[in-house]
Amino acid sequence: MALSERALKIIARYNKTDDVIDTTKKFVYEMLEPTPDRGDMLYRYEHSVRVAENGKVIATSEGLPVTDMAVACLLHDVGYRECGDDWPSHPQMSADIAREYLARIDYDPDMAKEIVQGISRHNLTDKLPEDMSIFQMTIRDSDDIDRFDIIRTAMAMGSSVHEKTNVEIIESCNKQIEIARWMMTLKRGTQTAKTMMDKELTQRIELLEQIIAQANKGFSY
Ligand SMILES: [Fe+2]
Ligand SMILES: [Fe+2]
Repeated sequence: MALSERALKIIARYNKTDDVIDTTKKFVYEMLEPTPDRGDMLYRYEHSVRVAENGKVIATSEGLPVTDMAVACLLHDVGYRECGDDWPSHPQMSADIAREYLARIDYDPDMAKEIVQGISRHNLTDKLPEDMSIFQMTIRDSDDIDRFDIIRTAMAMGSSVHEKTNVEIIESCNKQIEIARWMMTLKRGTQTAKTMMDKELTQRIELLEQIIAQANKGFSY
């Protein structure tokens, strides 16, 4: 995808650095640019930092390169603002921005390629390309772990119950449980990621089941 003038201008301000994680954080913040009209970009930035933390945990326990993983995770959603309303194109946009940025800061070319490919594939669910490496899958796993953590669970549960009737609550929670169970069946790159993901999903399912049980009490009068 062609990069905008804005993106190219921001990338041009960056150079080789001693602290690549800190520099990449600044770059992602600048690219997402949380402003009052796009408050969701601050959420996106904080999500990216949490994903990087997940990536570090997995990389450390699985012997993957920790700094490269943190950089990849930080950059995985960097193209969100540039996509405007075309949300589904964000993995490719983020990959294209990451490619330019990593070249600009003189990143190891082989690792840069791996990071870029992993970012472009981070939204894949059940149909994974055969050549998707453990490193690449870990970017996507780290993202999924945050997408199903307790913060997102609270968000999902909020909309499942807010001013809803018992019937609606039960239906909505059952749908969420179905999604969580499906997520549990997806292939993960590592055992560490699988364990982390299962923990989040189990917690989510348990909470949803408690809500369903509570809503069912409404039928007993
Ligand atoms: Fe994403
Ligand atoms: Fe993400």
